[in-house]
Amino acid sequence: MPSLLILSLLLSTAVLNLAALATGEDEFVFTGFKGANITIDGVATVTSNGLLDLTNAHERLKGHAFYPAPLRFRESPNGTVKSFSVSFVLAIYPNYRPSQGMTFFIAKSMDFSSALPVQYFGVFNSVNQGNSSNHIFAVEFDTVVNMDLRDIDANHVGVNINSAISKKSSTAGLYDDRTGSFSTLNLTGGEGLRVWVDYERESTRINVTISPVSMAAKPARPLISAIYNLSTVITEDAYLGFGSAAGKDGSRHYILGWSFGMNSPAPSIDISKLPRLPRLSPKPRSKVLEIVLPVATAAFVLVLGIIIFLFVRRHRRYAELKEDWEVEFGPHRFPYKDLYYATQGFKNKNLLGVGGFGRVYKGVLPKSKLEIAVKRVSHESKQGMKEFIAEVVSIGRLQHRNLVQLLGYCRRRGQLFLVYEYMPNGSLDKHLYHQEMSKLEPTLNWAQRFQIIRGIASGLLYLHEEWEKIVIHRDVKASNVLLDGEMNARLGDFGLARLYDHGIDPQSTHVVGTIGYLAPELACTGKVTPLTDVFAFGIFILEVVCGQRPIKQDTSEKQPMLVDRVLEHWNNGSLLDTVDIRLHGDYDVNEAYLALKLGLLCSHPFMDARPSMRQVMQYLDGDRTTPEPSPTDTTFEMLAAMQNEGFDPYVMSYPSSLASHGTSSIVSGGR
Ligand SMILES: Nc1ncnc2c1ncn2[C@@H]1O[C@H](COP(=O)(O)OP(=O)(O)OP(=O)(O)O)[C@@H](O)[C@H]1O
Ligand SMILES: *[C@@H]1O[C@H](CO)[C@@H](O)[C@H](O)[C@H]1NC(C)=O
Ligand SMILES: *[C@@H]1O[C@H](CO)[C@@H](O)[C@H](O)[C@H]1NC(C)=O
Ligand SMILES: *[C@@H]1O[C@H](CO)[C@@H](O)[C@H](O)[C@H]1NC(C)=O
Ligand SMILES: *[C@@H]1O[C@H](CO)[C@@H](O)[C@H](O)[C@H]1NC(C)=O
Ligand SMILES: *[C@@H]1O[C@H](CO)[C@@H](O)[C@H](O)[C@H]1NC(C)=O
Ligand SMILES: *[C@@H]1O[C@H](CO)[C@@H](O)[C@H](O)[C@H]1NC(C)=O
Ligand SMILES: [Mg+2]
Repeated sequence: MPSLLILSLLLSTAVLNLAALATGEDEFVFTGFKGANITIDGVATVTSNGLLDLTNAHERLKGHAFYPAPLRFRESPNGTVKSFSVSFVLAIYPNYRPSQGMTFFIAKSMDFSSALPVQYFGVFNSVNQGNSSNHIFAVEFDTVVNMDLRDIDANHVGVNINSAISKKSSTAGLYDDRTGSFSTLNLTGGEGLRVWVDYERESTRINVTISPVSMAAKPARPLISAIYNLSTVITEDAYLGFGSAAGKDGSRHYILGWSFGMNSPAPSIDISKLPRLPRLSPKPRSKVLEIVLPVATAAFVLVLGIIIFLFVRRHRRYAELKEDWEVEFGPHRFPYKDLYYATQGFKNKNLLGVGGFGRVYKGVLPKSKLEIAVKRVSHESKQGMKEFIAEVVSIGRLQHRNLVQLLGYCRRRGQLFLVYEYMPNGSLDKHLYHQEMSKLEPTLNWAQRFQIIRGIASGLLYLHEEWEKIVIHRDVKASNVLLDGEMNARLGDFGLARLYDHGIDPQSTHVVGTIGYLAPELACTGKVTPLTDVFAFGIFILEVVCGQRPIKQDTSEKQPMLVDRVLEHWNNGSLLDTVDIRLHGDYDVNEAYLALKLGLLCSHPFMDARPSMRQVMQYLDGDRTTPEPSPTDTTFEMLAAMQNEGFDPYVMSYPSSLASHGTSSIVSGGR
């Protein structure tokens, strides 16, 4: 008993190892050939995933695979061949040339050494064609036309007895079960094809049926149905197998699964468990893919292009110019992106004004919500940029209630951005002149005007004397005086003039500043001193008190220069007539008198005759009496007249005699 059990156990494991599910004596099924007990010869191989590869892409070489043991096809030596049924799944991969075919056969032995490759499938040869002693029954799957073998086409199935010349053949295909119509199947399509070979003993009928693996059922009508008494062919014990011999093309012939039944239908092969075929190159493409793929590719490329374009644009839009030396100024540097967002991309609706150096935009910083004014200056030259930025940063440290705080800067190619505090009430010139037409409405009353003068004086004093370095503003004028929320005057825009200074040839006497506010000595020496600021401040005082521009645009006027007009009235003793008529006489007489006198004093053509800002402050506070330019003094008149004619007073070189004359010349020693 135990020995029997062990035997049956051994048997069952042996059966499993065979991978052939032998349900009866003469019945087997291979679902793939991984580890299967089959006999192979020639170039045939079993691939790692279980495909039986008959030709392994070799040229003109034979390959065979056999069921390892012969099967008994007759009950006795004189008996007739039993009914049998074979089914298998094959796939032929074409190469660059049409491939030769392959065969399924039942033969008397496994010895095919004398067989020929190529058109003889490695099964037959040219000498023993049709010799009944061959004892070979074969079904060929031929993909090449050989005229000497009477092939019908390059895609046919044939039934062969002892010969490579088919007894009966047909173009590969199948008959539709319902309509009966025939449709061709491509043997070299690289797709799995199911084949059934059935033989019936009584009728000696051989049926060959093929269908694609994708089809669920075996077609009812066979592709080939032939009558041939195989009892005259198949020996009592015979071998089952496949043979192929590729031509020069190196095509491949795969068997995926195989089953056999003697006196019974071949067991069905589980298609879903068959090994996968390798990818066919070029891969057969469906019509849908043929359309969808290019469209999808194009769309993908387009999207990628757009993304790259946007990325590059974004990168370029926010690209900045940053140099190594700027590291130390890092905290004062604004990212361009922030400024771009703050000003909504430098939109015109955020434009505050256009000045001599560039445009000024209003903005709100994205994170801090701080209101800023961004001045965009185009600047190509790199020369002096480092010094300038260093100056901008040091200016950023200046803090005074009458100065517009410089918050920082940013640099791009050819552009420089200066970021200031935003002044909600804009620049003073707008308040002074925007209602110039209606000469009735004063926009600024006297108290405000005097407060503005004092404020700017205080700011300038801070720049000139109260900070650690002497800072010269260089462009004191009404448009650079801004008004904050409480109408406090704040001096803005300092330092910019220097940027242009550095860029130019130091030999040239190019003067920076604004016409009307330029001290005469600048035209000669080009040297900027705190006293050139004082000159401009003097003109500024007159401008605020008189409500007039330093130079009248209207040329019909007798006196185009404001300073000349005031000077004339000073000499005539009618100084207060120059006060802005829009104030309607509503002003403090003493303060106006003081301011006008101080304006004249500060804008004295001789540098040495001008007071320092500290003295100006003292005069304004009433701590010191303002020196009176004497009414008989013709110096002003003369010099102003000469200036008018375009003469340079210094060319005449008698400054000492004039400087000592009349006005008390208070000379600022500087520090
Ligand atoms: N910080 C600020 N806050 C509010 N408005 C400002 C500010 N800075 C400038 N502006 C506005 O922008 C305008 C242009 O200023 P900008 O300084 O460019 O020109 P300008 O003062 O007329 O001439 P310049 O170039 O000689 O200084 C000013 O007139 C003012 O109205
Ligand atoms: C393969 O099958 C043959 C015949 O059935 C048998 O003789 C042989 O031992 C088997 N080999 C293996 C490895 O199972
Ligand atoms: C089989 O046939 C051969 C001749 O073809 C004959 O000699 C032999 O006796 C027959 N055997 C049987 C069992 O019929
Ligand atoms: C058939 O083949 C056999 C053995 O190969 C040979 O002896 C015989 O002469 C051949 N007959 C013909 C008709 O060629
Ligand atoms: C069969 O399919 C192969 C591969 O797609 C192709 O090259 C060949 O032309 C086809 N043959 C026929 C007859 O359709
Ligand atoms: C062969 O095909 C014919 C026609 O369809 C059918 O009648 C017959 O039963 C088939 N024979 C076998 C063995 O399948
Ligand atoms: C087939 O051939 C064998 C022997 O050659 C014969 O005995 C048998 O009757 C034949 N069968 C048919 C159906 O003709
Ligand atoms: Mg300005």
